[in-house]
Amino acid sequence: WVRMVTAQTPTNIAVIKYWGKRDETLILPVNDSISVTLDPNDLCTTTTVAVSPTFDQDRMWLNGKEISLSGGRFQSCLKEIRARACEVEDEEKAIKIAKKDWEKLHLHIASYNNFPTAAGLASSAAGFACLVFSLAKLMNAKEDNSELSAIARQGSGSACRSLFGGFVKWTMGKVDNGSDSLAIQVADEKHWDDLVIIIAVVSSRMKETSSTTGMRDTVETSLLLQHRAKEVVPKRIVEMEEAIKNRDFASFARLTCSDSNQFHAVCLDTQPPIFYMNDTSHKIINCVEKWNRSEETPQVAYTFDAGPNAVLIAHNRKAAAQLMQKLLYYFPPNSDTDINSYVAGDKTI
Ligand code: DP6
Repeated sequence: WVRMVTAQTPTNIAVIKYWGKRDETLILPVNDSISVTLDPNDLCTTTTVAVSPTFDQDRMWLNGKEISLSGGRFQSCLKEIRARACEVEDEEKAIKIAKKDWEKLHLHIASYNNFPTAAGLASSAAGFACLVFSLAKLMNAKEDNSELSAIARQGSGSACRSLFGGFVKWTMGKVDNGSDSLAIQVADEKHWDDLVIIIAVVSSRMKETSSTTGMRDTVETSLLLQHRAKEVVPKRIVEMEEAIKNRDFASFARLTCSDSNQFHAVCLDTQPPIFYMNDTSHKIINCVEKWNRSEETPQVAYTFDAGPNAVLIAHNRKAAAQLMQKLLYYFPPNSDTDINSYVAGDKTI
């Protein structure tokens, strides 16, 4: 027999960024963060997990290519989920798995991303969230999504926020074992559904400095990070939750743009400095800033993760349509500062 479960998980985009760990093994952050989860039809990972007595080892395929499962992060997630596995009884298929059988049974895992891996589009976030969620279902684990988020966190920090839709907060937690460092939903996907997210893919190449090594260097060398984590982010988290609850786009945009810019300032303050944005990213910022200043209230918020791609959050569909017009005018296809493509174009969150 074979028992199989398939799950689909969207990626999330931080509007208050996570950057820096206080514990590298458990992946515990130096500050809280808040993100918005994309529509499940946009950037997402689909993972199928299977178990069968005929499998003789754990194996995993990513986008059709076999990858090693020996990494500490995969092993942590597998170990944590196996520890929570429960009895499974599927009468229809005549499958009965006792709790203790899970220790001996092996898994096959196949995962697909519908977007470029490691191009600063947070593929690890959707990937580990989907892995943990699908394994929990396969093994009949009883934990809720917040508890599962603390496991996904050990795969990749940002993954913990993809266990929920809508707006999600990752609370950094206090205790050393990380059990209180988990995600909670701030508002569900229906709460603010006139927002439109457009991602301008400036480059789909692999990023030069991974988030993991980048944030390690930042923690070791940046004084600005200390100020950000202790003084700036705690206040911003409170203001951002308030802005989301009140659907206050002016505050939401101000906080989102400032936080992205401070994150990139912290990267510049790292030794050696890290440059994730490029000339096209800077031009996009200028274009949005100029437009927002010319209107009574801001129309678009921008945010950039560990790469040059712009995530643009428009106030509503009208603003999104105007934004696309401006981008196509300032960055015409096949010009030097070409934007390769746009994704998540017409979808509401
Ligand atoms: C800039 O979650 O990819 O996207 O925990 O080392 O796997 P690890 O890092 P990762 O870092 C994401 C950083 C970010 C900001 C964010 O998503 O909050």
